[in-house]
Amino acid sequence: MTLQEPKLQISDLISQMTLEEKAALCTGASPWRTVGIERLGLEPIVLSDGPHGLRRASEIDSMMVESLPATCFPVAATLSSSWDVELAGKLGQAIAEEAIDIGVDIVLGPGMNIKRSPLCGRNFEYFSEDPLLAGKMAAGLIEGMQSKGVGACVKHFAVNNQETRRFTVDAVVDERTLHEIYLAGFELAIRSSKPWTVMCSYNSVNGTFAAENHYLLTEVLRDQWGFEGFVMSDWGAVHDRPEGVKAGLDLEMPGPSPDRTQAVIDAVNSGDLDMATLDTVVERLLKVILHAQETPKGGGVIDVEGHHALARSIAADCMVMLKNEDGVLPLEGNERIAVIGQAARMPVFQGGGSSHINTTKVDNALEFLRQRSEVQYAIGDASVELNQEAIDEAVVLANNADVALLFIALPESVESEGYDRPNLYLTPQQVALIHAVAAANPRVVVILNNGSAIDMHSWINDVDAIIEAWLPGQAGAGAVVDILFGDVNPSGKLGETFPIKLSDTPCHLNFPGEKDTVHYGEGIYVGYRGYDAMERDVLFPFGFGLSYTQFEYSNLSVSATNFKLGQPLTVTLDVTNVGYVAGKEIVQLYVSDVESRLPRPIKELKAFAKVALEPGETKQITLTLDDRAFMFYDPDYGQWLAEAGAFDLLVGASSADIRLTAQVNLTEGSAVASLLHVYSTLKDWMSDPKGAEIVKPMIDNFASQAMGDAEALGVDSMLVFFQDLPLTQVLRFTGAGGSESPDKIVQALVDKVHA
Ligand code: GLC
Repeated sequence: MTLQEPKLQISDLISQMTLEEKAALCTGASPWRTVGIERLGLEPIVLSDGPHGLRRASEIDSMMVESLPATCFPVAATLSSSWDVELAGKLGQAIAEEAIDIGVDIVLGPGMNIKRSPLCGRNFEYFSEDPLLAGKMAAGLIEGMQSKGVGACVKHFAVNNQETRRFTVDAVVDERTLHEIYLAGFELAIRSSKPWTVMCSYNSVNGTFAAENHYLLTEVLRDQWGFEGFVMSDWGAVHDRPEGVKAGLDLEMPGPSPDRTQAVIDAVNSGDLDMATLDTVVERLLKVILHAQETPKGGGVIDVEGHHALARSIAADCMVMLKNEDGVLPLEGNERIAVIGQAARMPVFQGGGSSHINTTKVDNALEFLRQRSEVQYAIGDASVELNQEAIDEAVVLANNADVALLFIALPESVESEGYDRPNLYLTPQQVALIHAVAAANPRVVVILNNGSAIDMHSWINDVDAIIEAWLPGQAGAGAVVDILFGDVNPSGKLGETFPIKLSDTPCHLNFPGEKDTVHYGEGIYVGYRGYDAMERDVLFPFGFGLSYTQFEYSNLSVSATNFKLGQPLTVTLDVTNVGYVAGKEIVQLYVSDVESRLPRPIKELKAFAKVALEPGETKQITLTLDDRAFMFYDPDYGQWLAEAGAFDLLVGASSADIRLTAQVNLTEGSAVASLLHVYSTLKDWMSDPKGAEIVKPMIDNFASQAMGDAEALGVDSMLVFFQDLPLTQVLRFTGAGGSESPDKIVQALVDKVHA
């Protein structure tokens, strides 16, 4: 849904506004609403968190107040495990319906920062380590929300991948990594779903606070991506309001901040800030405010039961079965079950911080299990430190049961907005409990509630089955029981890698940085890109998830073997359910650049699809690869580009389970201006299409003459020996340019290349 010009002429409004009114509009009127201008009939709009339900303050002019009841849906880390963009859209629509019911114009979400380290306390609010999966899921959510006339707010823009010192830390990231990993998901979501607003992050990026970062907020977001909405700050992220206006930050939140409003007025009066620049900001704000007001809000009643049921259905489609041995799942329903863990009775279904929702209702697994089976319950892990009595009580139950269900949740005190985790461990009590229960009963199922990868190496081999239930929202307990008994066949797959240990993570030596600087030293090698490059084993790979049935892939076909940019490639294959129960399979397509001038990841996710199949059913899947699927960001050219040559297409059930492959050939790379200059090396000249054509005759001649020298130097080829020398020096050393000055020769060649 694009932002159309609303009925009330914005230009008329701006022409009637005073400088004071314009400046006032650039800062919130309160923590949760924009400024209204009664004189001109401009009403405020209401902003509320997000992202996986509404935290709508009961009093919109107070910061920390109880929020109105709303449905807590599965968090982003859960939703992304569905790999189902349409499902994300349904969730977005439901949140928008509640926003309309309780009076919210802009929902502060989705959060979509890349999960650089599993330690980040806010990872539960983020989708993935991969920008394509994050971007597609965010786009689905945004489109769903905005299809109902409620605005989304993509956050936190950008490079906000830790909570440690989030208000002051400077993320130092090279341009290629910035675009290929940390902006790519935002770019995909913003270009495809056109969110009405974007929220800038607290941190600095390469030395400039995001709230005053012209490169991010104007050059990239608007000039390159065509973003048309308005940018708001994260709450308290502004440091210099006039500089923010110049950079492209339209709204400071929260408000009111009269001193900041005065600073804008003073900047215009002093000539430091152009009125035209301020008018542009006001225009962007008015466009969204007036557009949002075209959808009447408030006075409705939340569809509590309908949305609770939807939350349960969504959660069930997100959960990931990580292990299931000896057929311990699905349960038959006639087992004597030992239910152990505080989370069975007091579910942990959302994270801590600004996304925390005052739920309409909450299910608990113990109640549902008691309705279906003979159940005994022990709390097991109420404490963090060792409590042997609680363990002993649980062991007694496990000894007298056919199967033990261990509900293990990371405490909110461990994982939340505002701080990062110190490690990947469960609590000492939880680890001891798992070991003890597994020693007492041969059939143990662990159900996990967490927002990001955890360390399992000490107990994973002691248990038969593991369900990663993430933070599944208020109806998550019902979804877990649906999966345990096979009412729903698990179909989720991991949106992030589970490492064997923390020190295996690619960013380990650079997270969370020191004092106020964090170096993104691992560059583009984040998540599976890093584990692949380091050839490092993992506990569970990106894209992994089990089902109660099995799927086979066949008949891979590509629309063209030799292709050009501008000709999207379609990849088709058949997927068959070869098991005995219906299920859904997530097919993943990775692209691998066989040879490239710059180092590239071994493979990168470039398309995916989820398909439902009855037992024995086969469906054909079609996946499309656009130009971007073959490109990398080249900082020398300041653009995305593809090089001619071979690419492997890898179709897999996970990033580590490639089932079918094909190779295609890009016949012509992206057209780029030559970068050659008088100090370019021989290799630079030979790598540049026009440059190679010009110097090749000269070099061929020199190469044939230099054979003897090569032998004397004991090298295979003088070309290789000289490749990293500037061409001028190659000519000077070898006389290949004859009697003329090498400097003059090369200058003439450079002029020719750029002619
Ligand atoms: C918080 C969060 C942001 C949230 C905002 C309003 O600090 O970083 O995600 O939307 O403030 O609560």
